[in-house]
Amino acid sequence: MIEILNAAELDRARGSGALVAGILQTVKSRTTVGTNLLDIDRWTKDLIAAAGAESCYVDYAPSFGRGPFGHYICTAVNDAVLHGLPQDYRLADGDLLTLDLAVARNGIAADSAISFLVGDTRPAASVAMIQTTERALAAGIAAAKPGARIGDLSAAIGGVLTAAGYPVNTEFGGHGIGSTMHQDPHVPNTGRPGRGFTLRPGLLLALEPWVMEDTATLVTDADGWTLRSATGCRTAHSEHTIAITEDGAEILTLAPPA
Ligand code: MF3
Ligand code: CO
Repeated sequence: MIEILNAAELDRARGSGALVAGILQTVKSRTTVGTNLLDIDRWTKDLIAAAGAESCYVDYAPSFGRGPFGHYICTAVNDAVLHGLPQDYRLADGDLLTLDLAVARNGIAADSAISFLVGDTRPAASVAMIQTTERALAAGIAAAKPGARIGDLSAAIGGVLTAAGYPVNTEFGGHGIGSTMHQDPHVPNTGRPGRGFTLRPGLLLALEPWVMEDTATLVTDADGWTLRSATGCRTAHSEHTIAITEDGAEILTLAPPA
């Protein structure tokens, strides 16, 4: 089902987006070398509760994971890229961490992901890969406006990823979002312009380009959730929730000014 939000619902979506962005920034700012992924999960749980919001993850039990997720944020390190189940692991200098968070408040969900390097060591290939997913996300957002089709966004995203030399996986991509976190339409991270659903004002989309350095193949961790690169290479992921407006797209999960 594809939801189209009215003005009041869109206002609530703005609140949810700001909340997700704020929590991600707070958690990122607290994260240092030595932080345990389970601490990040606990901080997130407390921040969601303090805002009177609900986790979209804790009870989530889709076919692609093992039972309810049971945690509040996805934490994916280095070769882990999607659905990172928080594990008892302390971050090391130079680790590439992806945080992915979806929260619902007043009945509307928002979803966003950021990748960044922990500590002082900044491997150039990791910096470039993170920047590529951010540029692909910006290209997808720039293509999003009424009358555009999902294929236009997919082509814009995939064009940036492919031009930078990354293989593109099509098993997981962006999605509609609204009263629930995952809705139609699916937004693949590569595609052909002019194909697919036509965007309308009031549609909420989560766009989420992600890549693995040298493979398109995922393997599932023994935890039943965390998806890793089959070759052990590093990975990156950038996601925003956007609202289609009369003349373009509004980013709902922009990080607040520091
Ligand atoms: N927020 C993720 C996405 O970007 C989905 C995470 S599902 C979870 O679509 F169960 F792993 F949390
Ligand atoms: Co998402």
